[in-house]
Amino acid sequence: MRPDGISMSAQIETSKSLHEVRYEIRGQLAQRAHEMERQGFEIISLNIGNPGLFGFRTPETMRMAMIENLPASEAYCHEKGIFPAREAVVMQQQERGVMNVTAEHVFIGNGVSELIDLALRALLNTDDEVLIPSPDYPLWTAAVTLNGGKAVHYPCPPENDFQPDLDTLAGLITDRTRALVIVNPNNPTGAVYTRETLETMVALAEQHGLVIFSDEIYDGMVYDDAEFVPIAPLVKNTLCGTFSGLSKVYRACGFRVGWVAFSGTNELAEDYLHGLDLLASLRLCSNVPGQWGVQTALGGYQSLKELVRPGGRLYESRKAVIDGVAASEYLSLVTPGGSMYAFIGANRDKLPDFDDHEFALELLESQHVLIAPGSSFNVDYNNYFRITILPEAQVIEDVFRRMHEVLG
Ligand SMILES: Cc1ncc(COP(=O)(O)O)c(C=O)c1O
Repeated sequence: MRPDGISMSAQIETSKSLHEVRYEIRGQLAQRAHEMERQGFEIISLNIGNPGLFGFRTPETMRMAMIENLPASEAYCHEKGIFPAREAVVMQQQERGVMNVTAEHVFIGNGVSELIDLALRALLNTDDEVLIPSPDYPLWTAAVTLNGGKAVHYPCPPENDFQPDLDTLAGLITDRTRALVIVNPNNPTGAVYTRETLETMVALAEQHGLVIFSDEIYDGMVYDDAEFVPIAPLVKNTLCGTFSGLSKVYRACGFRVGWVAFSGTNELAEDYLHGLDLLASLRLCSNVPGQWGVQTALGGYQSLKELVRPGGRLYESRKAVIDGVAASEYLSLVTPGGSMYAFIGANRDKLPDFDDHEFALELLESQHVLIAPGSSFNVDYNNYFRITILPEAQVIEDVFRRMHEVLG
C-alpha cells in the first residue's frame, strides 16, 4: 500500500504469446546505439534498410500524387485500399502475364509488414507449420509464432550461395504444413533465385497444396546480370500471394504502403480471401494518403534502374562492399545479386572464436558502427553479420576501415 492509500499493483507482464518472438535488428544493440547518440556520438547505422535515412528520395511524382489527393484522403477508404492503387497492382500482374487477378484479389496494407500478419492470421490454426527461409526476414517467423503457427526454417546456406537447399526443403513438408514463404530478392542475403529454383519450389507447393507467400518487396532491385523472376506467372495449381510495396524500390518507407495480390487458384480460396477481408475491415483501412502514390509508382518510368546500374548510387555502394570484403583476409561474401544488403561472413580459419554479437557490440562501442548480427536471422551459425549497402560508397569504405580496427 502506498502512503496515499492507493494499492501497489503487481508487475505488469507481457503476454506469453510474445515469449518466443524476436526482432533483434531493433533490439538491445539498436537501443545502445540510441543511447550513444543521445550522448552526442555520431553512429553509422547499417542495421536497417531505410533509404530515406541515407539521402534517397521518393520519386517526385509520387509526392505530387499524394499532395494533389490529400483533400480526398480524409475519410476511411475501402478496407482493401483505394481502387486506383489496387488496379495498378492488377495491371502490373497482367504485364507479367497473370490474368486472373482483379482488384478484389488485391489488399493494400500499412506496409508489407501489416499484410504479412493479416495473411498469416487469416490462414493459420494452432500448430500449423509454415516454411520460412533461413536466414529469414524475422517478421515472417515472428508473425507465424504470434498467430499460433510453427515456423519451420528451410536452409539457404552460405555454401549453397544462400540458395534454398531444395532437397532439405522437400523433406521438411509434413501434413501440418500450410504455406511456403519465399523472399526474392532476399533480405538478408541478397540472393536472387533463378527460374529453375522457383519452378521447383512451386512444384513442391502445388504437389502438397501449400499456399505460396512470395515477398517480392525488392522486386527489380537486381545488379549486373541477375534477373528478377516474379513467381506469380509460374503458379497455376495453388494459391499464390505476391507481396510488394513502396518502401524499398520507391524509397518511401515512411508512407507505409504495401500490397498483396492473390493469383493461382483464387477460385478455391474464396473462404480464405473472405477471412482476410474481415481482418482488413477490422482495421478499417490502411493509411490513405500514401496509397495515392501507388499508381504513379507502378506506371511509367522506373527510376530504380538508374540506381542499380553501373555509376548508380546503389550499384557503387554495393561495389564498395564487395571491394571492402575482397581486400580483407578476415571476411568473405557471397556477392549479393539483389536487394540492399550484404550478409558478410567472418572466416573461421582466421577468426576461430568470432562471435557475431560480440563483434557487433565492440564495433558499436569502439567504432560507432551499428550492424545486425547474423544470428538475428534465425541461423544456427554465429560468424555472419548483415549490413545495408545504402550509405554512399566512401562511407562504406570508412566502415571497412573501422571494422578492421576491431578485427585486426
Ligand atoms: C523482406 C521484407 N519484407 C517486408 C518488409 C517490410 O516492409 P514494409 O515497409 O512494406 O512494411 C521488409 C523491410 O525491410 C523486408 O525486408
